[in-house]
Amino acid sequence: MTGMHHMLVHFPLAFWALALLMMLLGRFQQGALAQACRSGLPAVLVLAWLGAVAALVSGWLVWPAAANLHSPMTRNHLLMSLWATGLWTVITLLVWRAQHAALQGGQGLILIVLGLIGSALFAISGTLGGYLAGAPTQLSQLLGQLGWSVYGTFYLPDWSLMLLVVLGVGCAVLGMGGRARNA
Ligand code: HEM
Repeated sequence: MTGMHHMLVHFPLAFWALALLMMLLGRFQQGALAQACRSGLPAVLVLAWLGAVAALVSGWLVWPAAANLHSPMTRNHLLMSLWATGLWTVITLLVWRAQHAALQGGQGLILIVLGLIGSALFAISGTLGGYLAGAPTQLSQLLGQLGWSVYGTFYLPDWSLMLLVVLGVGCAVLGMGGRARNA
């Protein structure tokens, strides 16, 4: 059964990587290829999201929850998978709403920054998964060199979580204010 998770995780990882490439080409290139990237981006993001749901569900089904939650490294892997899926879900919704205009102007640059952060998160999730499967990569060793021991549970201080909530609420209020002004 473990092969199920190993197989399914390739779908979100490959589609998210492709989505980032399409975002960069769609934003910074001209011509038919850039146009194709802009048109195809929503579909690729939806496929990645479906793959992520399958990866999350299979992660929970394949191993007992007690085992998953006991190991700090699996907790880190789970946390980064949820953060990556959450951020890419937001990107997917934004691109879906804006369609062809998604990558234009300032909002396009913000989407690309979000895409780069989301890619770092899925790369960390994937490299921790590889670590769990007994195949540490240079990226996981780089995390160690940056000061994050992947054998200990990743920890965010409470104040930074509160700051994230305040920033999120502030952005929502600004967005709703802008929409009301434009209406
Ligand atoms: C978007 C969600 C996820 C992604 C992209 C992902 C990615 C990966 C990857 C790339 C591997 C290494 C596979 C290999 O080397 O062939 C892996 C392994 C693993 N994942 Fe996930 N994963 C996700 C969600 C989860 C969840 C939700 C759990 C548990 C609750 C989980 C538990 C594990 C475990 C225990 C392994 C190690 C497997 C082994 O020892 O053979 N994963 N994952």
